[in-house]
Amino acid sequence: MCGIVGAVANRDIIPTLIDGLKRLEYRGYDSAGLAVVDSHNELDLRRSVGRVASLEGICESVSGMTGVAHTRWATHGRPAENNAHPHTSSSQVAVVHNGIIENHNELRALQKEQGFPFSSETDTEVIVHQIDWHMQKGMGLLEAVKTTVKELDGAYGLGVVSKQEPDLLIAARSGSPLLIGLGDSENFIASDMSALIPVSQKYMVLEDGDIAKITSDSVEIFDQTGAAVEREVLISTLSDEETELGGFSHYMKKEIHEQTRAITETLEGRLGADSVLELPFGDSAREIFDKTKEIKIIACGTSYNAASVARYWFEEFGIKCDVEIASEYRYRKHVVNEGTLFVTISQSGETLDTMAALEMAKTLGYTNTLCICNVPESSLVRASDLTIFTHAGREIGVASTKAFTTQLVTLLMLAICLRRRRIGDGRTSDSMEAEIVQELRTLPQQIENALDLEDDIIAMSKHFADKHHTLFLGRGAHYPIAVEGALKLKEISYIHAEAYAAGELKHGPLALIDEDMPVVAVAPNDELLEKLKSNLEEVRARGGKLYVFADANSGLESDDETMVLKVAPVNNYIAPVIYTIPLQLLSYHVALLKGTDIDKPRNLAKSVTVE
Ligand code: G6P
Repeated sequence: MCGIVGAVANRDIIPTLIDGLKRLEYRGYDSAGLAVVDSHNELDLRRSVGRVASLEGICESVSGMTGVAHTRWATHGRPAENNAHPHTSSSQVAVVHNGIIENHNELRALQKEQGFPFSSETDTEVIVHQIDWHMQKGMGLLEAVKTTVKELDGAYGLGVVSKQEPDLLIAARSGSPLLIGLGDSENFIASDMSALIPVSQKYMVLEDGDIAKITSDSVEIFDQTGAAVEREVLISTLSDEETELGGFSHYMKKEIHEQTRAITETLEGRLGADSVLELPFGDSAREIFDKTKEIKIIACGTSYNAASVARYWFEEFGIKCDVEIASEYRYRKHVVNEGTLFVTISQSGETLDTMAALEMAKTLGYTNTLCICNVPESSLVRASDLTIFTHAGREIGVASTKAFTTQLVTLLMLAICLRRRRIGDGRTSDSMEAEIVQELRTLPQQIENALDLEDDIIAMSKHFADKHHTLFLGRGAHYPIAVEGALKLKEISYIHAEAYAAGELKHGPLALIDEDMPVVAVAPNDELLEKLKSNLEEVRARGGKLYVFADANSGLESDDETMVLKVAPVNNYIAPVIYTIPLQLLSYHVALLKGTDIDKPRNLAKSVTVE
């Protein structure tokens, strides 16, 4: 999704802006651009469709000490040079914008009457004309931005520069993340701290409604009432090590293989001898869990699939659990039972729909809010009562892998904490908890074993590369695992993949079965195995080709119509984590054969900060 970098310094900032944009490439984008105030005090604007490398190619002769840069992921207006940011007005002001301005049509009509020419189809262009308009009426840049944001409906993270005040960078935020990076006689803005790794470790997070006036040696922040405010200076722990490929061909492959370490780190400090600890969920976790009678989980994409698996655990443990997609939750009425804990799950902590759902939930009478997140400095974390981090490390591949499995592990720990209140005094663990805890301790090794299936999966992937449609089947907690497997395949290989609860086959999808539609199934050795086997027979009877990841003791064997890859026997509670691994590898190797852009699949973004 769109990325912002900006800088004000006493040196040429073009290399910093380009480097920052490259570091944001993983978020997904279709065009890039930058604007600086050059040595002649003119705005120099460069934009191009495609990769940041193309932009770099047209910036060789440009230099400047104040500027803004952007990677754009199209929402209003197709990917094209004229729609790329920055947008300028009268060659005076340049703006980069993340978010969506909902009243752009009204503003555009007004500005056309005022004589402003429009050169793009974007909602952003109205912002820059509005700032220019106020400056033409005599306001300074800060005042003009302050006045303009009051006239905007919607979400924005803004970086603004003007040739009239060449030493000034203005930042404003409402609904879209924006940070200020502090340097030595130079300061920066970015939508994501990873853009600033080489130039700044100290940073401040702007809050909604904040506007910042930034020079090379000062930062002043004003809140939405206009009052000067201080924001806490934080220290970033991000390093380049996390963003290096380290010998892997793609970040996705690296991240699949990092799951052993990611899960080890997610479990670290969270398990007692035979129990799950509660303090890692926050100082008030015990008190909040004591009040919790049921759970509502909200998330998007892969995080939603993790929530859907967790529902089976919570309800198995006697805790009512409801799971919903954030964008649906936001736009309907709710009946909230007393004692309901509102849980959000998000890798990035910045997904707009999830964030908006949390804000809405706070008005609806939930007992408390808990966030499961991978990014400590994110909006969702700051807005929640309790937070538990998935220590997945930075995930760069757009298709989520290690974030998903660490979310699962964290959700299982949460379910166990709440289960203690169902089986006893809420403090004492029992033999079943002790058994799951022991299984969690061996999980990293079991993941290693699952990763060892890779060679067989490479052989299997050849059967998919020329196909246009696939079906994924699972039952129980492995139905959402099948959904996640299908999501991975469609995201990175562009093969249409649909997931079904295997019991639903006969209610529709059986009609699609033929030899051109491979059917993938996950078959752990649980109480639903025999039912699943019957469902697989229904596929075989119609000439379907089956690719099954099955427990080594399931009794399922390969033959002419069926390819079975045997997975080492695994405890039922952690089986969903293990069965995820071969599905990730299958998607990766099919995409590799198809030659797609695996880490940056077309049309997709890593962090979705628009509605
Ligand atoms: C995007 C990403 C997905 C992710 C989803 C939710 O669609 O491409 O990988 O699952 O957003 O993101 P979140 O950061 O809230 O988990």
